[in-house]
Amino acid sequence: MSEVTASVEGKVAVVTGGGSGIGLATARRLSSLGATVLVVDIDGDAARRSASELDGRALSADVSQPEQWTRIAAASSELGGADIAFLNAGTTTGEQDITAFTDEQYRRILGVNVDGVAFGMRALVPQMTDKGGGAVVATSSLAGLIAFPGDPLYTLTKHAVVGLVRAVAPRLAEQNVTVNAVCPSLVDTPLIDGEIRDLLTGSGFPLISPEAVAGAVLFCITSGQTGQAVFVQLGWPPTPYRFGHPPGPRLEGAQGKVPPGWLAEQPR
Ligand SMILES: NC(=O)c1ccc[n+]([C@@H]2O[C@H](COP(=O)([O-])OP(=O)(O)OC[C@H]3O[C@@H](n4cnc5c(N)ncnc54)[C@H](O)[C@@H]3O)[C@@H](O)[C@H]2O)c1
Repeated sequence: MSEVTASVEGKVAVVTGGGSGIGLATARRLSSLGATVLVVDIDGDAARRSASELDGRALSADVSQPEQWTRIAAASSELGGADIAFLNAGTTTGEQDITAFTDEQYRRILGVNVDGVAFGMRALVPQMTDKGGGAVVATSSLAGLIAFPGDPLYTLTKHAVVGLVRAVAPRLAEQNVTVNAVCPSLVDTPLIDGEIRDLLTGSGFPLISPEAVAGAVLFCITSGQTGQAVFVQLGWPPTPYRFGHPPGPRLEGAQGKVPPGWLAEQPR
């Protein structure tokens, strides 16, 4: 049995946004490797279609709502408890102008892209620690590593996901739970539509397949690494992004000092 199959076969995997695009491709990949998949999507029909194709379970839920995570955790618990959580549901605003977004747009994108990941960790990590370990993968974006002026609020949320993953990884490593982010460039899914798709198609810019992103998610689950932001770019294997180090204090007597103890813990 390959190492990848051994890490997935017989495991319970929760996939948010599993009704379409990257979530659907990853749910298919996990299922083909022998995982039982709980497909969570706000689009109940899409979740049911995906789950019936995979012989998995569907749940129509909005990941931005904390109380809906009680339902998601209960469904996952009925399947035996989560070993793998792919916190992937996401949305965009399509608004470039930071003076023009509506309150609804702001709450929606923060709710889905950030709250949906934090609530997901809070609900599902305890199931993993109860089982002796697990793997969390959250979908960020290349816009979590670089600025994307086309959608500043999207950039805000995807940077937040990378920060959250890197901050929780050292503690969770002690409980045998890995936490990583995937950071894809532009992917061929229904999220890329309208003007952006026309622009990309017109210029001949190649999009990444959702299956390639699923491969990067598998890399995150099986590599044993944690606290990584793994970028997904055409022509590259999934690769952990190397962050630079901001400067420490330059005052006399404090050169090279770092804060004491847990304040300075870094992802391993
Ligand atoms: N497509 C890209 O170019 C690209 C690039 C980088 C990152 N991403 C990220 O990948 C993730 C998946 O996007 P995709 O490209 O597969 O798009 P998609 O639109 O094909 O799939 C997103 C799925 O999430 C579901 N969803 C949306 N809001 C939800 C909510 N509140 N609760 C539950 N489900 C919800 C949708 O119904 C949909 O099925 C997102 O986080 C997105 O930001 C996409």
